[in-house]
Amino acid sequence: MVSDLLKHYPVLLKEIISIITPQHGGTFIDCTFGQGGYSKEILSFKKANVIALDRDLESKKKADEILNQFKDRFIFRNKKFSQLDNLKVKNENIRGVIFDLGYSYTQIKDPKKGLSFNSLGQLNMQMGLNDFSAKEAINKLNEIELEKIFKFFGDEKEAKKIARNIIKQRNIKTIDTKILVDLIEKTKRNKNYKIHSATKVFQALRIFVNKEVTELIYGLIAGAKVLKKDGILAVVTFHSLEDKIVKYFFKNLSESKSISRYMPEVDQPETLFKIVKKKPITPSIRELKENIPSRSAKLRYIIKKKNLYNFETDILKNFKYLIEIENFGNKLWKNFLLFFQFYF
Ligand SMILES: C[S@@+](CC[C@H](N)C(=O)[O-])C[C@H]1O[C@@H](n2cnc3c(N)ncnc32)[C@H](O)[C@@H]1O
Repeated sequence: MVSDLLKHYPVLLKEIISIITPQHGGTFIDCTFGQGGYSKEILSFKKANVIALDRDLESKKKADEILNQFKDRFIFRNKKFSQLDNLKVKNENIRGVIFDLGYSYTQIKDPKKGLSFNSLGQLNMQMGLNDFSAKEAINKLNEIELEKIFKFFGDEKEAKKIARNIIKQRNIKTIDTKILVDLIEKTKRNKNYKIHSATKVFQALRIFVNKEVTELIYGLIAGAKVLKKDGILAVVTFHSLEDKIVKYFFKNLSESKSISRYMPEVDQPETLFKIVKKKPITPSIRELKENIPSRSAKLRYIIKKKNLYNFETDILKNFKYLIEIENFGNKLWKNFLLFFQFYF
């Protein structure tokens, strides 16, 4: 149980509110409820309703507190945002869909979650509604699979050597948090003294265990679909891979396809969304002082131009190589293993 003294600081809250303008009413989907920082602020505007989601069951306690205060205007579901499509919100006036990616302060400080290399807890990393833990991934996947995870999700330059040493080490003893941290420290030649040697591998494992790329892509598609005309899709990212995916998706829906200058001029179909600011919004100096983890936060948003709920995007094709890496985890699914034991 995490102490109530450990408070999460909602990142870029003022900026989010000024973009989505809840004072004008409507329904807002808070896809990453966490400690309820965004939801509570939106609900402080009397005409606004909130539908909130979070994959972590621990969030429900906070959600129950808010529900007591705002019974008629607040709904919480313990669901992953990739399932936003199943919410049946067709008749709602959805004016905003918001994602504040990553994990909250309370999650990183919870030893049960084992998200941090400083934690004495298990090598776990499950944020909620998962199929396997980081311990299972490290101790069961093969060398090539581990190397790809560290390389593509952590941008870890020494991924190959680390993966090889993991395979050697686990033949001697099951790998837990401490063994993994020591192994990475011993393996890495090129140490960057600004960040801990294990940072990139731990980020990669967290993304893999929670299927964060697949979640984000399906979440963005579903979010863009449910919005009404003039609705805002806003995303706060915390690392370059997330930002790359969001930037690609936003550009993909907001820019006309370029046609060769040698072709006759034709009218371009109007795009479904528009980008107002090309550059992401980042925390103010004041916020950076008050909340150091906000330093890597980037906020991007797009505005829907029409009431159209289906569109084409090639985002799945463009990031297929990452989704395929996350699918290495399918063989670790408990149900999947039971299925095979039963039939074969
Ligand atoms: C940075 S916190 C959000 C904090 C929140 N904005 C606040 O002010 O309290 C991110 C939250 O998103 C949740 N989350 C991450 N991935 C998710 C997913 N795919 N579906 C639903 N919730 C997710 C995490 O469990 C975590 O509680």
